Amino acid sequence: MKNNNYGYPHTRMRRNRQFDWTRRLVAENSLSVDDLILPIFVMEGKNIIEPIASMPSVNRHSIDKLVDIVKIAQEVNIPLVAIFPVIDNKNKTEHARESFKKDNLICRAITTIKEKVPDIGVMADVALDPYTSHGHDGILNGDIIDNDKTIDILIKQALNQINAGADIIAPSDMMDGRIYLIRESLEKNGHTDTLIMSYAAKYASAFYGPFRDAIKSKGSLRGDKKTYQMDTPNANEAIREADLDISEGADMIMVKPGLPYLDIISKIKTQLKVPTFAYQVSGEYASLKAASNNGWLDFDKVMIETLLCFKRAGADGILTYSAIDVAQKLLDGYKNES
Ligand code: PBG
Repeated sequence: MKNNNYGYPHTRMRRNRQFDWTRRLVAENSLSVDDLILPIFVMEGKNIIEPIASMPSVNRHSIDKLVDIVKIAQEVNIPLVAIFPVIDNKNKTEHARESFKKDNLICRAITTIKEKVPDIGVMADVALDPYTSHGHDGILNGDIIDNDKTIDILIKQALNQINAGADIIAPSDMMDGRIYLIRESLEKNGHTDTLIMSYAAKYASAFYGPFRDAIKSKGSLRGDKKTYQMDTPNANEAIREADLDISEGADMIMVKPGLPYLDIISKIKTQLKVPTFAYQVSGEYASLKAASNNGWLDFDKVMIETLLCFKRAGADGILTYSAIDVAQKLLDGYKNES
């Protein structure tokens, strides 16, 4: 549509930007605590809060301490936490045996949270990488990841996590057909209402480095994840992945990493019109933190700015390691005036 005037000086774009109140009035997007998902790391032991060197201010927590963090998350009204287990090396095996034990760390963590903080959503990853001695998300057959054998294990892992109390399971493994097969076994087992947030467009990214430090899988990763995670140049393929996962029974889609892949979020949202989430991953968090700790960036400002960018791209919510800080700032009426 063409506006019926001659542009400048009748039209001056700066009029709407003059005051804080005009800017607020014409803002096309906004950020609220309802958009935030907090990823947290859990480890064995008691009374432990262990810093992660490459992710300043993010820690690994024993289950008792995890509960404290989740309570804070609930107090600031964050709707959902995503829990990631740090598995002791002695429990990592070629075939990820620990991943489908009924009383493993993640299942105990989920049950405890559900018992102590019942009103917050709990999400758990379905993937084998925290549990494999080789650091891959699947079962190796020689050098090849065996898609279908991996899914058999993912199904057991998912069922255990749901029985432990998980509200959302999040397959992050990128095997073909896993959403269909997991959904089918959930239906068969009476878990008709369990949500699936699929890591549908997950790229083989170098931005996951600090996360692999956090779950202590970095040193052990044999090769790379390029035969199952997506290739950076591809966008159409991401739409196909997301479309397939929705048709196989996923309720929500995730794009990962976040900021370098805003175009993917935007395309999925406009083309498929499904609930779409972004994961601002460990390497994105670490980059902003490192620059801020050097005095080169203002962390709060760049963090809020990036989260607003996700909203502008069409994301319904964002997994961010800064969720609690951001929620506190939003509740205090923080505005991103730079
Ligand atoms: C496991 C998983 C990874 C992340 C989330 N789930 C790592 C990977 O795929 O190697 C990365 C999250 C982050 O970097 O913050 N499949």
